[in-house]
Amino acid sequence: MAHTLVIFGASGDLTSRKLIPALYRSFCRGRLPEPLQIVGVARSAMESHQWRQQLGEQLASRLGDQWKAESWGEFQERIHYQPGDVQNPDDFRRLGKFLEDLEQEPADRLYYLSTMPQLYAPAVMGLGASGLADDGQGRRNLIIEKPFGIDLPSARQLNRDLHSVFKEDQIYRIDHYLGKETVQNILVLRFGNSIFEPVWNRNYIDHVQITVAEEVAVGRRGAYYDQAGILRDMFQNHLLQLMMIVAMEAPARFNANLVRDEKVKVLQSVRPWHGGDFATAGVRGQYRGYRKEQGVGGESQTETYAVLKFLIDNWRWKDVPFYLRSGKAMSCRTTQIVIQFRRPPHLLFNAQGSCKPEANRLVLQIQPAEGLQLHFQSKVPDAEMRMRMSELDFRFDSGGSGLPDAYERLLQDAISGDASLFARSDEVERAWELIDPIIAAWRSPAAPELLSYEPGLWGPEGARQWMQQEGRQWFDVCPIIR
Ligand code: BG6
Repeated sequence: MAHTLVIFGASGDLTSRKLIPALYRSFCRGRLPEPLQIVGVARSAMESHQWRQQLGEQLASRLGDQWKAESWGEFQERIHYQPGDVQNPDDFRRLGKFLEDLEQEPADRLYYLSTMPQLYAPAVMGLGASGLADDGQGRRNLIIEKPFGIDLPSARQLNRDLHSVFKEDQIYRIDHYLGKETVQNILVLRFGNSIFEPVWNRNYIDHVQITVAEEVAVGRRGAYYDQAGILRDMFQNHLLQLMMIVAMEAPARFNANLVRDEKVKVLQSVRPWHGGDFATAGVRGQYRGYRKEQGVGGESQTETYAVLKFLIDNWRWKDVPFYLRSGKAMSCRTTQIVIQFRRPPHLLFNAQGSCKPEANRLVLQIQPAEGLQLHFQSKVPDAEMRMRMSELDFRFDSGGSGLPDAYERLLQDAISGDASLFARSDEVERAWELIDPIIAAWRSPAAPELLSYEPGLWGPEGARQWMQQEGRQWFDVCPIIR
């Protein structure tokens, strides 16, 4: 079957920065189905050859040595442009005609909404009204970008709008963290080995830390960010997704709905915050200088750093805290998940330099320099029976050509109709149900103090003290594997 990918919002940043590079790389790796046509739709008046030239130049400067004139020449033949406004029904009719002429034979179509979020609903309605969502000619699927709503009511409304035209199994909601190879590797680590499962529970694990630290500040995205804040921008989606993958049960089979059933069960078991939790179960921070960023209010109370502590009330995780933490303008870019095991029940040996030896730790390094590291006690050589912490490293290397970008995997999956790595409507709504009350409480007088922190550090000092009160400490190490 032939395939057509229609990108609404073709002139936007995401298209040139992520989608076209991902498609081009997938093409170079021989991973795109044939034949595949890529059709960009945006309001600017432009011819296909002009769009190709624009994309080619952007891509060449972005990819440097990886850009090859010959393969680009071949790839660009698949690229087309059709001007159109998603709020204009006539433009959908014109698009329909353009696609029919282009395809020549029935093709599966994937519509990619990469527009501004306020245009998602009009675009979907336009597809529905023009018959492009269901014309009996092949699969008609829809990819929708983040943000999926700004709170629970808007996410529900968006789901209703989508469902008025597309069935749930036609809808692919992107969370690019799920496209990261190392996130998928957590599933393989957990369910492809037998040694981890017996210890992956409350009997052996003391707590879990999930950290997404970014070195970059908000940059030019101040106006968006000041409205969104870190809870909407990172927690409702990426951090909760990582928590689900770490905490979920093994699905009966690896198929989209069974995997997502297990993920949703995790969110259903998360204990929602109530009462005093809003003041004590998290930390809010803002980096110094944030209020001077372009587009940010001088009195802004928006968090650029946060910690949320969640408990998962089920047999596996009862009383094991999951500490979710993310911040902009931190000391380095690192996404890591620390599985902190309990201490041995009884100590026979002396630890080097301290009388309280550290417990085992498994650090999953999601990015950059993907890999994992196991921390364990070993004997200090030639020194009686003394112990010290040692490490076993595993570097997740693909064998030379570099790990594919998350969008490569996600686009390939969506084109081939595999929704396992995409969020389902109930998953997204449940995530908002957990995050919404926290956002509301943190905008009220009951909010904990907004702590400021110096850019380039590991967040506010108060976060360290908060963790100490929890009886634990943060694992603040820039990428453990380089
Ligand atoms: C996006 C957020 O979803 O994820 C950004 O909007 C953030 O603020 C980005 O920088 C982080 O993604 P990655 O893949 O660089 O970790």
